[in-house]
Amino acid sequence: MSTLTSRRFLQILGVAAAGLLLSACGKKEEPTPPPAAAASAPAPAPAKVYVVGTDAAYAPFESQNEKGEIVGFDVEVVQAIAKKAGIEVKFVNTPWEGIFKTLEQGDRDMVVSAVTITDERKQTMDFSDPYFDAQQLIAVKEGSKVAKFADLKKLKVGVQTGTTGMEVVEKLQGKTSASIKRFESTPLALKELEAGGVDAVVADNGVVINYVTNNPGGKFKSIADKEFVPEQYGIAFKKGNTELQAKINKGLADIKADGTYDQIYTKYFGAPPAKAAAAAPASAASK
Ligand code: ARG
Repeated sequence: MSTLTSRRFLQILGVAAAGLLLSACGKKEEPTPPPAAAASAPAPAPAKVYVVGTDAAYAPFESQNEKGEIVGFDVEVVQAIAKKAGIEVKFVNTPWEGIFKTLEQGDRDMVVSAVTITDERKQTMDFSDPYFDAQQLIAVKEGSKVAKFADLKKLKVGVQTGTTGMEVVEKLQGKTSASIKRFESTPLALKELEAGGVDAVVADNGVVINYVTNNPGGKFKSIADKEFVPEQYGIAFKKGNTELQAKINKGLADIKADGTYDQIYTKYFGAPPAKAAAAAPASAASK
């Protein structure tokens, strides 16, 4: 036999053997699959691609570049985690309003969107270990007389609907206050500040600083206040999805251990996270 024919012979043998095996199984239990499926059997099932929902209007954490690609700190952190965990991820731009519902519905496997871990949210979803320390920050126009959070008591304040920023302002002014202006996205709230429609915006520090820095023409300044409690971002999962949660937590620990996390952090924030902040007194006290 020539090489070619012996190879063909083996191929035929292989297909025949597979057919035999399948028909043997078929007798026992399952119905025999169609022959086409049997012939292409050796190809491994494609790996599951985990769908990640993110509201990509939140630079530097998640935003869309000129090409429409979703980029940012969160994206790079999750991609690095996925690499360690050996899983594939795909980011899908998802409006903040209703973003957590997509987990329940199974449309998204994870939500990575600078999401603050809160006790209230923990009742309806599960979170990864924290991956970022954040805090609310006030944005005002340069000439503003606002010096502290309490000064916002009677002023028009812009917030993104359903965020922790909205919650703190509701606490200060009361939920029904007509001076709270809710926006679909944080950039829209900040544009309204520039236009003079609101006196201040309260949002996550990273996003406010990014906006103030990149919009010098807007003449904004930011104001911190000790009244704002520390927040931590986590990756959200459908409640009970402990399998994915464990994979992500392991990957997160790995990228923190090998320096990848610090590298990404430095790329976006100019320096690695402060060691002092990492050893947060709150978590130390709870041990
Ligand atoms: N950290 C805040 C919260 O969880 C705001 C997050 C908003 N994120 C976004 N991508 N729009 O409520």
